[in-house]
Amino acid sequence: MSVCGQSRAVNWMITAAIVVLLPGTSAAPQPHVVFIMADDFGWNDVGYHDSEIKTPNLDLLSAKGVRLQNYYVQPLCSPSRNQLMTGRYQIHTGMQHQIIWPCQPYCVPLDEKLLPQLMKEAGYATHMVGKWHLGMYKKDCLPTRRGFDSYFGYLLGSEDYYTHTRCYSITALNLTRCALDLRDGEEVATAYKGGYSTELFSQRAVDIIGKHNASQPLFLYVAMQAVHEPLQVPERYTTPYGFIKDASRRKYAGMVSAMDEAVGNISAALRQAGLWDNTVLVFSTDNGGQTRAGGSNWPLRGRKWSLWEGGVRGVGFVSSPLLEKPGTVNDELMHISDWLPTLVGLAGGSTRGTKPLDGFDMWNTISKGFASPRLELLHNIDALYDDISPCPGRQQQLTLAQGFRGEPRAGSSFNVSIHAAIRYLNWKLLTGYPGCPTWFPRPEHNDSESSSPSADPLKPVMLFDVQRDPEERNEVSAQFPAVVDYLLNRLQFHLKNSLPINFPDDDPRCDPGPSGAWGPWA
Ligand SMILES: *[C@@H]1O[C@H](CO)[C@@H](O)[C@H](O)[C@H]1NC(C)=O
Ligand SMILES: *[C@@H]1O[C@H](CO)[C@@H](O)[C@H](O)[C@H]1NC(C)=O
Ligand SMILES: *[C@@H]1O[C@H](CO)[C@@H](O)[C@H](O)[C@H]1NC(C)=O
Ligand SMILES: *[C@@H]1O[C@H](CO)[C@@H](O)[C@H](O)[C@H]1NC(C)=O
Ligand SMILES: *[C@@H]1O[C@H](CO)[C@@H](O)[C@H](O)[C@H]1NC(C)=O
Repeated sequence: MSVCGQSRAVNWMITAAIVVLLPGTSAAPQPHVVFIMADDFGWNDVGYHDSEIKTPNLDLLSAKGVRLQNYYVQPLCSPSRNQLMTGRYQIHTGMQHQIIWPCQPYCVPLDEKLLPQLMKEAGYATHMVGKWHLGMYKKDCLPTRRGFDSYFGYLLGSEDYYTHTRCYSITALNLTRCALDLRDGEEVATAYKGGYSTELFSQRAVDIIGKHNASQPLFLYVAMQAVHEPLQVPERYTTPYGFIKDASRRKYAGMVSAMDEAVGNISAALRQAGLWDNTVLVFSTDNGGQTRAGGSNWPLRGRKWSLWEGGVRGVGFVSSPLLEKPGTVNDELMHISDWLPTLVGLAGGSTRGTKPLDGFDMWNTISKGFASPRLELLHNIDALYDDISPCPGRQQQLTLAQGFRGEPRAGSSFNVSIHAAIRYLNWKLLTGYPGCPTWFPRPEHNDSESSSPSADPLKPVMLFDVQRDPEERNEVSAQFPAVVDYLLNRLQFHLKNSLPINFPDDDPRCDPGPSGAWGPWA
């Protein structure tokens, strides 16, 4: 009897295990997952952060969903997308420096298994629309070779919103080449000249949703071109912003409105197709706003390309009827590398075949408000860091030559001249030059305090309690030496476990010629 009971229990366990492991057979249907990424969308550029920019769709979707207010991304395009796709820190892919430039012969390492591959293995139809920016020098790097069933978009980091051309100066050839960068699948797409990309991309997403057979789960990744520079937008979107005096900000506001409308169109299409009740929609920026091109991260310090909060604290939310606590604001620590385990978990899939993940499954935190499993977050370590844009009040970035050299600290071997930042609970430690340290003023406000150039001088080691001091105004390393030592040792640990930086020289064979398109050359 007892033997029989035991074996029945074992049988039940085996059955349960099979039910969980086999895609498509679990009791709860696999949710459709739509991930919308905005480009260079700053903290102060969304309506619900009290911006002068109107984003009714983002406001409403997030109000009915979960707003992630302690959510981090990387300070740049390729790195954020890299971490989204691999669930791993940049130091583990050799991509810790800058972005992938058009002629650099590298891509996210081909032995990394990407999110769409895992979703595909879990039984999903996988589609991508928009900006790739994860490398394209050879065909094996393309989205269609890395897990997406279909792709419509551009492979590089930025381009003209209407002509879909990108100009890049190929130093080795002493010429500036302007060429098309738009593809449908792997084919160059020439038929879209004149179409505004925000509309083209949302229209393609709407088409994919409309044609989707609901009996299969859908994974759709929409990486908008908006709101990255160049500042281009049809005039009707800027009409409501006559009150904004700064011309760049006004145009940028129009671009945000177009992007907000695109998100509205996509969510409406999901409802119309009858998919919405079983959809998880994620919205995320890829990095902080670019203040040189209309963006704003007020009241946060710094901007895109820096490790200050303005560069890395991201706008993000989840909207879904499947959330157990909808309508909440979530203050739990979360990072862009967490989406891979979170979404694969929701899909009932497996992360087998990935390399060791840095991300955590956050679904219970997002959906139920449980405490975050993430205590630490490595923002980055980049010994080659350079800030390529001018920064107000600072003619040059701080260099070792200017005496910006950290004294080695007893008990830690971490070289504090290296640009790095790490978070642990409420603490954030920065070393080296973090990037442009300005508090850019709130747009349309004359707030002399917020633009104050006379802050404490920068130091090679800085500690902030970003929970209490998200604006990073109060540097407290002297008060908490034990925290500093602990975090320097954590940085040294991560440095020891990082790959060497891969940042190859331009390959002149990238040249598409006078009539070609940017694309694989190797
Ligand atoms: C680069 O091109 C410019 C004009 O096209 C020419 O004046 C210059 O000499 C060239 N430089 C080199 C190094 O070939
Ligand atoms: C949203 O849909 C409407 C109606 O189809 C369309 O006119 C508009 O251009 C779309 N907006 C975007 C940004 O795609
Ligand atoms: C959707 O897919 C299912 C299962 O493959 C199939 O039976 C059904 O006919 C499809 N529906 C449509 C409208 O294609
Ligand atoms: C420390 O890091 C800086 C910046 O990357 C580098 O220039 C310097 O050589 C390093 N110092 C040592 C002792 O390794
Ligand atoms: C901002 O206010 C200060 C003090 O009231 C004034 O001196 C300054 O001219 C103002 N600047 C602008 C751009 O309005």
